[in-house]
Amino acid sequence: MNGIVNDVQHKAAPLLTVRHLSVDYISKGERPAHAVEGVSFELNKGEILGLVGESGCGKTTLALSLMRLLPASGQIVSGEIIFGGRDLLGLSEREMRSVRWKEISMIFQGAMNALNPVRPIGDQIGEAIRLHTSISDRNQINRRVGELLDLVGIAAARKDQFPHQYSGGMRQRAMIAMALACSPQVVIADEPTTALDVMIQAQILELLLQLRRDLGLAILFVTHDLGVVAEICDSVLVMYGGVTAEYAGVDTIYNAPRHPYTQELLKAFPDLTRPHERLASIPGYPPRLDALPPGCRFAPRCPTAFDRCYAEPPPIYALGTGHRVSCFLVDD
Ligand SMILES: Nc1ncnc2c1ncn2[C@@H]1O[C@H](COP(=O)(O)OP(=O)(O)OP(=O)(O)O)[C@@H](O)[C@H]1O
Ligand SMILES: [Mg+2]
Repeated sequence: MNGIVNDVQHKAAPLLTVRHLSVDYISKGERPAHAVEGVSFELNKGEILGLVGESGCGKTTLALSLMRLLPASGQIVSGEIIFGGRDLLGLSEREMRSVRWKEISMIFQGAMNALNPVRPIGDQIGEAIRLHTSISDRNQINRRVGELLDLVGIAAARKDQFPHQYSGGMRQRAMIAMALACSPQVVIADEPTTALDVMIQAQILELLLQLRRDLGLAILFVTHDLGVVAEICDSVLVMYGGVTAEYAGVDTIYNAPRHPYTQELLKAFPDLTRPHERLASIPGYPPRLDALPPGCRFAPRCPTAFDRCYAEPPPIYALGTGHRVSCFLVDD
């Protein structure tokens, strides 16, 4: 949709390759919660990959594991995260510090509301520069703060203002500026537009597209909003209950989805060409991650489930170029 060729069609090696990544949360005296299981995807330079799915499906867990910033109870139990020819999971914490923020950075879910209210925005961006780059000279830091604010469309003169003097959209722009402090190649944006009204949301999406265009930035865009995905993503990974439901280019996801969960999600999303149609919701709830059903995790809510779906988990089938679906219906 945005002219970037999706995953396996791409000739150059992907910037980031995630293979069979699984993450458990382990709390004392409780069964492990399998929050992410067997997830694989590729991210190319300049590509925007949407990571979508209902609340609790493991989007943030996946994002935090790429940064190796999971909370203590979160453990990566298997998989590979290949970046720059190395498996990040094999790096020591010290080695990881040369990747985190510098090569891969993240805009945390809800972080724009967690800015320190009593420190000017410019100071907070300056702090990120001081902590994560080799720049320590005050004037140089100030100059870089100005550059970063300019990059995200905020007048450098506003660096001395406090978060309450910024609108929501500006606070999110400031968070994006912070994520760009070390000129990373990949930015993970966890629900960056969720709390914003539609006009401001559109401006933030436009900013991300501009940064992709100007800096060649690759973006992992985490959202539960399929409308936003349609606007900016090149490819989409649909997760359900910690696993991959479907992974494909954005056109395929919207025009030829094969997983019943993707199809149901799309029905729950307004179509401007059919304004009088009632929006569907998906009855039921996602599975408990510490008591997963033996078969497909979506089977209890799936309108097309049959015996096999309740008996064994479906593998991930590869259909044509770059289209992967975890559903027995495509097994022919
Ligand atoms: N620190 C934690 N300890 C135990 N379980 C956790 C922890 N953090 C998340 N989980 C569980 O892992 C699952 C995935 O959570 P995660 O936050 O990754 O979902 P999400 O897709 O980002 O959801 P949302 O759309 O609400 O942000 C959920 O069931 C959640 O309850
Ligand atoms: Mg989340």
